[in-house]
Amino acid sequence: MRVENLYQHLKHRYPLKKEIIPLTSRQIAMTIVEDGDEFLDELSREDSDGVLHLPYWTYLWPSAIGLAHYLDEMETLAGQQILEIGCGFGLAGIVACQNGGRVFFTDYERDALRFAQYNVLQNGCEQSAAFVQMDWHAPCLKRQFSRILASDVIYEERNWQPILALIEKYLTPDGRAIFSEPNRTNADGFFDLIRHHGFTYEEYGYTVLLLAEDSSTVTVYCVRRI
Ligand SMILES: C[S@@+](CC[C@H](N)C(=O)[O-])C[C@H]1O[C@@H](n2cnc3c(N)ncnc32)[C@H](O)[C@@H]1O
Repeated sequence: MRVENLYQHLKHRYPLKKEIIPLTSRQIAMTIVEDGDEFLDELSREDSDGVLHLPYWTYLWPSAIGLAHYLDEMETLAGQQILEIGCGFGLAGIVACQNGGRVFFTDYERDALRFAQYNVLQNGCEQSAAFVQMDWHAPCLKRQFSRILASDVIYEERNWQPILALIEKYLTPDGRAIFSEPNRTNADGFFDLIRHHGFTYEEYGYTVLLLAEDSSTVTVYCVRRI
């Protein structure tokens, strides 16, 4: 979809706001849903197994801002193939594109991918981006990636095994999966699980300034095979 058509589609469907995310070396312009709470009821759905899916993609989470800071400060990604899972509005993947990577933005929500695509366009990195609708429970990609980006995706235990399977399948032998988490207590269970499956990690703490001028702490886990 052309940039103007994409914008019109999103504007027709959602009240929008534009935010500038300041990082150490750059600023990222993000167009997001003005108030995600407004869409909680309308976009929540129950699947055939009775599992409720809430539209968490309509918020830009602190973990995405933390991961964007990590990538801004730590990672040169020239020539690397990168997978972002649960990309939401696409902030972390945009920084990865700007750092030289080719990023596959994935999410199971089509409108999340449309926002990510619009944000990629407005930050000038469309040459380095592809967009794929993908559910962690039914992965559909055919290649491996040297980086997997995963910001705020392990909040539900039922997703841990599929996400573990995904990094086992799609991470290159010497690759890194970079998770970002808002220090939820249940995250420990996920990192215990991956430790028992041949992975190890380093942790980096970030205090990030949020859109409402509050701050929040986020931990970035840089995961690799032992
Ligand atoms: C808490 S949001 C985080 C969004 C973004 N990474 C951020 O940090 O702002 C979780 C994201 O994962 C996506 N998601 C949830 N379950 C999924 C699944 N089973 N397969 C693929 N994406 C999923 C949601 O649509 C949403 O974009």
